[in-house]
Amino acid sequence: MIDVVHYAKKRYTTKVFDPSKKISDEQIQQLKSLAQYSASSVNSQPWHFVLAATDEGKQLIAQATEEFAFNTPKILNASHVLVLCRKTDITDEYLNQLLEQEQQDGRFDDEQGKQMVAGARAFFTGLHVNELHDAPAWMEKQVYLALGNLLLGASLLDIDSCPIEGFDAAKLNQVLGLTEQGYSATVVLALGYHAEDDFNAKLPKSRLSQEVIFSEI
Ligand SMILES: Cc1cc2nc3c(=O)[nH]c(=O)nc-3n(C[C@H](O)[C@H](O)[C@H](O)COP(=O)(O)O)c2cc1C
Repeated sequence: MIDVVHYAKKRYTTKVFDPSKKISDEQIQQLKSLAQYSASSVNSQPWHFVLAATDEGKQLIAQATEEFAFNTPKILNASHVLVLCRKTDITDEYLNQLLEQEQQDGRFDDEQGKQMVAGARAFFTGLHVNELHDAPAWMEKQVYLALGNLLLGASLLDIDSCPIEGFDAAKLNQVLGLTEQGYSATVVLALGYHAEDDFNAKLPKSRLSQEVIFSEI
């Protein structure tokens, strides 16, 4: 049996990356699949991922860390940097695109099944757009699920990572032209291999105890 807790404990936020070490194309493909296969509410998949593998790409992303200078070297020295974005809107056209993909993937036995899924998705989407007025936050929650998948998956692949919220999202949207494409930068993930002098690699993990964070009923 795989010791999944070992991988959860082994992963840690890498503060100093070794710029000479690069993730293989095969492992990058596995990470892309982990993001792709992440779960989302009503299979809404309201995300887009921008992957920077080149120095030029990483420099563009680093422009959004001017006021978060402690994060700049992480972005520049990581092997790859992923910008996890949410969609800005969920349009009827997009809902149709999802439905047609599910049809192609063989999810429906008949038209009635297809329409049930369409109805459920329209209900939840409508709830967040028209009643709760929290569609952006709802979409960001889905994006963070993909982040969680990637963090654990990277550990399984022996890849180090640093999730990054310390960046200027408006600036990154502008630099990468995300707004025009209907996306908004939500969180950044630097991926690669830690440097010898990464102080955080040696620190013990710290978490609140299970007695504090769990109640049993
Ligand atoms: C959503 C998110 C955003 C974070 N943003 C940053 C960041 O901007 N810079 C940084 O150095 N660490 C960042 N962290 C790392 C956290 O500080 C770290 O996950 C936490 O202290 C737990 O430590 P561990 O990841 O080593 O287990 C972020 C973590 C998460 C999950």
